[in-house]
Amino acid sequence: MLYAIGTGMPSTNQKKPDADSDPEFTVNYKEDVEMNKPQVVSVKTRENVKKVEIAVLYPNGQAKMYRSRMRDGVGKVELTVPMPGKFLSSVAVYGSGGIKFLKDFSFTGSRPAELELEPGTRANSELEKIRNRVIKLPDNFHADAVRAWPNSTSYAQSLQNLTFSISDSYSDLKKGKLVRNKNVKIPSYIFGSGNFGTVFKITCDSGDYALKCFTRAAFDLAERYYFISSYLSGINLPMLVGFNYLPSAVRMISKPSQYYPVLRMDWIEGTSLNSYIEKNYNSSILMKRLADEFLNTMISLHEYGIAHGDLSGDNILVSDSGKLTLIDYDGMYVPPFSGRIAPEKGHEHFQHPARGNHYSEDLDNFSVLVIYLSLYGISRKPELWKYNDNDGDKLIFSSGDFLNPEDSAVIRDLKSIGGRTRKLAILLSQAAGMDPLWKGIEPIRIKGLR
Ligand SMILES: Nc1ncnc2c1ncn2[C@@H]1O[C@H](COP(=O)(O)OP(=O)(O)O)[C@@H](O)[C@H]1O
Ligand SMILES: [Mg+2]
Repeated sequence: MLYAIGTGMPSTNQKKPDADSDPEFTVNYKEDVEMNKPQVVSVKTRENVKKVEIAVLYPNGQAKMYRSRMRDGVGKVELTVPMPGKFLSSVAVYGSGGIKFLKDFSFTGSRPAELELEPGTRANSELEKIRNRVIKLPDNFHADAVRAWPNSTSYAQSLQNLTFSISDSYSDLKKGKLVRNKNVKIPSYIFGSGNFGTVFKITCDSGDYALKCFTRAAFDLAERYYFISSYLSGINLPMLVGFNYLPSAVRMISKPSQYYPVLRMDWIEGTSLNSYIEKNYNSSILMKRLADEFLNTMISLHEYGIAHGDLSGDNILVSDSGKLTLIDYDGMYVPPFSGRIAPEKGHEHFQHPARGNHYSEDLDNFSVLVIYLSLYGISRKPELWKYNDNDGDKLIFSSGDFLNPEDSAVIRDLKSIGGRTRKLAILLSQAAGMDPLWKGIEPIRIKGLR
């Protein structure tokens, strides 16, 4: 059904005109929208109004903002709903004098008719469909032919002049600004340097981005990111960050003819899991909430057959409100990778002692238990954080604890708490001696342990 709402120009000395009777501000939208099909919300108002903004609150609490310019008093915004349920929205239009109109409306997302199955079977068959989706590289796909990669210092130097270093194809970034990392004492633009690349922050008109510049040859880099992003498109997983692989994006001062690819990610405000625990380990409530949130997050990722591949205290960011975001997808597994080998082995203090190059949706099982038990244990007994030893590369477990669980002081302490903590600690000792991909510790089973 098509709907239109209208409202009057707010005025101090006059009663608001009846919404539907004012021709000067109308919003047209569909009240029922099919999932993943675009709907156009059109806004019509006076000619001097320049900009329209629509804020949409998703049924799961996420919010999204859409912005568009108005032309001759008409603005159009395209929305797609990624899930069923009621979407609450508000539309605001702005002229030269600031906000002019604000109006709330709502619409409902529904599943396409052919997916309406028996209750209970629906979720599973949809997941099956997604997991079995065949993804092919496009014929014209081309990976950047790079033989030798620049190092962090060269990237840091070149990026200080974005007009020079960023290719004309990415004008938004080109006009952006490189941001200093204020968390380190010496002046630096580098936010992290790891296995595959170095991360910088660029702020530009369309938002703040993390730019991962690659420093190590990974021949299938472009192809891997193509598969990962294709698989993730259309799936709503709020714990993942939006990203784009940009081919031929950045060049060095020393070799202006060669452009290198970068991975551009939305910038996530938050602290690493390690520093969040460091700050809050004394709060049992926060630690328990974080433990639950983490496990639920990993359950939904696993349902889609996705494994992060390198879960650790610095690849998980926590926002002030306790929301978790996973970053660093270099080692990610998605179902189209079935049969391949893993590109990396992950942080050792989070991995099964026998982690090799096996690659599957069960890749995270062991690290999920390690992280969940760390958080859950700390929520029961904050002093356990002493086992961190101020080491940013681990939480409370070290690889030695997994090699010899019988001799591990932290596992002994966890067991002595009793109850569910004891059971989880026993499960971890057991898991350390099993196959690294043991399904006995799938995230959903960890949750089920009473
Ligand atoms: N999307 C992002 N938003 C905010 N910070 C990020 C983002 N991606 C990376 N970072 C920062 O950069 C650091 C390094 O990034 P990461 O992708 O983990 O690379 P690596 O561990 O291989 O160096 C992170 O620990 C984090 O501090
Ligand atoms: Mg990392």
